[in-house]
Amino acid sequence: MSHDPRPGNEFFEANLAYWEAAVPAHRRSAFYRIDEWIAEGAPPRAWEQALLGDVAGLDLVHLQCHFGKDSLAWANAGANVIGVDFSPAAIDQAQKLAKRLGLSSQARFVLGDTYDVPELLPPSSADLVYVSLGALMWLPSIDRWASVVAHLLRPGGRLFLHEVHPIGLILDRAQDGWMLRGSYFESGDPMVDTSEGSYTDGAESVGTHTTYSWNHSLSEVISALLRHGLAVTHFEEHPWTSFAQFPEMRGENEHFETPADWVPMPLSYTVMAIRST
Ligand SMILES: C[S@@+](CC[C@H](N)C(=O)[O-])C[C@H]1O[C@@H](n2cnc3c(N)ncnc32)[C@H](O)[C@@H]1O
Repeated sequence: MSHDPRPGNEFFEANLAYWEAAVPAHRRSAFYRIDEWIAEGAPPRAWEQALLGDVAGLDLVHLQCHFGKDSLAWANAGANVIGVDFSPAAIDQAQKLAKRLGLSSQARFVLGDTYDVPELLPPSSADLVYVSLGALMWLPSIDRWASVVAHLLRPGGRLFLHEVHPIGLILDRAQDGWMLRGSYFESGDPMVDTSEGSYTDGAESVGTHTTYSWNHSLSEVISALLRHGLAVTHFEEHPWTSFAQFPEMRGENEHFETPADWVPMPLSYTVMAIRST
């Protein structure tokens, strides 16, 4: 079977059905804490803001924007934002949230597959491309993703990526320790997951879905960016992630850590890069 994740492709359709079901549950979830976040002034995450600095006036494209929480945080911080996602439910919710926040003129949401972005948005139109946790695993080819980032960025424009660590993505429980389930490296064969609900609370309505995802090793991500003319300026691996990947993990507000007596594990990573040419 072709791995082009376009409409009509079994993987694309299955993943889209999952996200269409997940969006309403996520929007209502305590995990995304929309009402509290709005009451706090709808800010971006402080650690991301510290890395990115002042975004006022920057043209920012948020790839795989989900229902727009992060996109709107950056719009609220002064960026001119375009969020792109392939889920009509996500785009609809993002537009509603923009309206509620009075940010409809600073944030526009476009329906589309990530790989179709070069047909949807002009080249060299972004100062900043923002991608956050749980995005790359839905894309079969990291090289093609990097070409989309390079298409969007102006010379001097920056990428911010905070992603699930490729080790974390395949880390699983073994009877007396840990095991890796699936390929660390990008593989033509997707990882197949048939499970109920999603990573947030209140996701019973999501039902049971089979989804298809692809791992991308750290060197594959970084090499793809370099191949497409981006220079890496920041790279960090984190022993924490945004959700309770294992039931023993504790945390809040999208920062969850493993128990102190566990060996620290690589659960997420951050890359920043600048388009040099
Ligand atoms: C885990 S969410 C991203 C979450 C984001 N960090 C957040 O918390 O809001 C992944 C998003 O990727 C989108 N997505 C998955 N495959 C896609 C594709 N091929 N093209 C565009 N969007 C896609 C889904 O619709 C979903 O909104």
